[in-house]
Amino acid sequence: MSAALRILVLGSAAGGGSPQWNCHCAMCAQHDGVAVPPFPARTQSSIALNSAGDDWLLINASPDLRQQLLGNSALRPARGLRDSGVHSVLLMDSQIDHCSGLLLLRESPQPIRLYCTPRVREDLETGYPVLKMLQSYCDVDIREIHPDGQAFEVEGLPDVRLRAIALTSKPPPYSPHRTAPAPGDNLGLLVTHVPSLRSLFYAPGLGEMEPVVADAMAQADCMLVDGTCWTDDEMQRRGVGQKLARAMGHLPQSGPGGMREVLAAYPNARRILIHINNTNPILDPASIEAQTLHDEGIEVAEDGLEIRLC
Ligand code: MLT
Ligand code: MN
Ligand code: ZN
Repeated sequence: MSAALRILVLGSAAGGGSPQWNCHCAMCAQHDGVAVPPFPARTQSSIALNSAGDDWLLINASPDLRQQLLGNSALRPARGLRDSGVHSVLLMDSQIDHCSGLLLLRESPQPIRLYCTPRVREDLETGYPVLKMLQSYCDVDIREIHPDGQAFEVEGLPDVRLRAIALTSKPPPYSPHRTAPAPGDNLGLLVTHVPSLRSLFYAPGLGEMEPVVADAMAQADCMLVDGTCWTDDEMQRRGVGQKLARAMGHLPQSGPGGMREVLAAYPNARRILIHINNTNPILDPASIEAQTLHDEGIEVAEDGLEIRLC
């Protein structure tokens, strides 16, 4: 009998985490000076996949990676003096919250196996040159992936096929391609457990619904999708910034064409929001907004959540 596909949420917050180090917005302030906050803190956006043995595919390497690895014993199998359950890393984009953890893997005795698109690789060799920096510490074995929807396999993750889907979104501010987006800057991922034919759709940064995204969602038994902001103008409402969610490449949950409306079309899938910004009221399960999601059958990811497909 084949093993299940295990999906472990290492970090469920957007960039900055929740609470954010310097933020005292109405949500972050609930963690100020209290021993037990009314809702759990969350680290920055990352998941890990396993389909056999002790090897995991890390999807995104967050700035909180050290804490995430130490906090999840499954990722520390200790098969040798220097060993980690992180077999390979796959990047969804070249954002700080998804790539900074690569630097924390610099003690790796083996080359870091890294799956990313040519676009992401270029950003990480130029505007945010972590791959150049790592050359002084360890080897990085880069395996380019292409956002063409074709199935590919990842070493260490048997019985699993992945498909990378190009999402329309701007590359990060430091990218040489900031003003000229192209396929491969930002991915959605359809992950299929071959023995059961059950699939996960993962898209922590989803700013636009396109036919290719709708197709992938229609194939998914479980979705982990962009839960950054409740309203488009949430940063403004909280008084912490001017940027609109959509302008940052994140579909807000509320309003016409928002994520809740999108997810309503897939009532048979398990639908979970991830990459939640520290300003979002849904972080608090007692909020009206969280209750609304609950009533609609939509879940909010927490760090440590594990999903099994089999
Ligand atoms: C994003 O998801 O929009 C970025 O990660 C924001 C950031 O971390 O600066
Ligand atoms: Mn982000
Ligand atoms: Zn905040």
